[in-house]
Amino acid sequence: MDPVVPDLLDYIGQTPLVELTALQVKPGVRIFAKIEGQNPSGSVKDRIALGLVLAAERDGRLKPGGTIVEASSGNTGIALAMVGKRRGYDVKVVLPKATVPAIVEVLALYGVDGIFCEQCQDMRQAVGLAKSMAERHGWHMLGQFDDPTNVRVHYEHTGGEILAQLPQVDVFVAGIGTGGTIMGVGQRLREANPAVRIVGIEPKMGDRLQGLCSMSDGFRPPLLKMDQLDGRWLVDHASAILAAERVIKSEAINAGISAGAALHVALREAERLEQGNIVVMFSDGGWKYLPAKPWEAARAGDPTLDDVHWW
Ligand SMILES: Cc1ncc(COP(=O)(O)O)c(C=O)c1O
Repeated sequence: MDPVVPDLLDYIGQTPLVELTALQVKPGVRIFAKIEGQNPSGSVKDRIALGLVLAAERDGRLKPGGTIVEASSGNTGIALAMVGKRRGYDVKVVLPKATVPAIVEVLALYGVDGIFCEQCQDMRQAVGLAKSMAERHGWHMLGQFDDPTNVRVHYEHTGGEILAQLPQVDVFVAGIGTGGTIMGVGQRLREANPAVRIVGIEPKMGDRLQGLCSMSDGFRPPLLKMDQLDGRWLVDHASAILAAERVIKSEAINAGISAGAALHVALREAERLEQGNIVVMFSDGGWKYLPAKPWEAARAGDPTLDDVHWW
C-alpha cells in the first residue's frame, strides 16, 4: 500500500516557537518568536486563506471552479494564490498603490492576476474595488477584513499552538493588519492567563499614503476590538527594518518587516517587565522584501519608506 502523503495544505500551521537567546534581554525576561515564515507560501496568511476558503466551501458561498477575489498588499494574496491553485479556483488580487513590487511578480508566477490599482491610495479603496468587482462578475470575495473566520482560525490554531508550546505567556506582541491575529490569539491566551498583556502594532504610514491601520485617521479594521488590547504602538518602518536586520544578525532568523516591528516593541515591553515570557509574531520571512532594498533605505533615512505597504 502507498504511504499516505499529505497535501501541501496539510502543512499549514504547527510553526516553530523559538526563544531569542542572543539578544540582550534582562534576566528573567524571555522572548519567543512564532516563525510563521515556515508556512508553505511563506506567511501567517496561509492559515486564514485556507480557513476562509474551507468555510466558504462548506456553506456553499464558493462553488467548484469559481473565482475568488481579495484585496491584499501581499501575503494574503500569495497565500490565496497557493490555496486557490491547490483547490481549483481562479484567483484575482487587488493591490493598492505602493505595494512591494516583488509581490506582483510572485503572484504572476502562481498564474494569478494581480490587479494593480494606481488610484487606490490605501487598503480601504482596494477593498472597495475588490468588492465591486466581486459583485459585477459574480466572483467570491474572500473577505479577510470582515469574516470572523479570520479571528476563529487564529483562536483555534495559532493561539492553541502557542499555548501548547509555551503554557505561560505574559505578553503577546503582533502587528495589526486585519486584526485577525491579535484578536484570535489574544482571546485564546487570555483564557489561559487573564493577566496576559496583548500588544498590537500599527505601521506608521507616510503623509502621502494613509495605511489601512493608521487608525489615527479614524479607520478601524472591522474585526479589531480596541478594548481587547492592553497596548498599542505605532512603529515607523526604519525602526522595523533595522530590528529585522538585528534579528538575522544576532539570532540567524530571516524575518520580515512586521516581525522587525514586533521585535522592536517586544524589546521595549521587556524593559517594563520584571520577569516573564513574551511571545512575538514573526508573520513572514524577509525574502520578498530584499529587491526593494529596505535596509539601505532605512540606514539612509529615506523618508519615502513610510509610503510603502510593507505589511
Ligand atoms: C507580514 C504581516 N504581518 C502582520 C500582518 C497582520 O496580520 P492580521 O491581518 O492578522 O492583523 C500581516 C497582514 O496583513 C502581514 O502580512
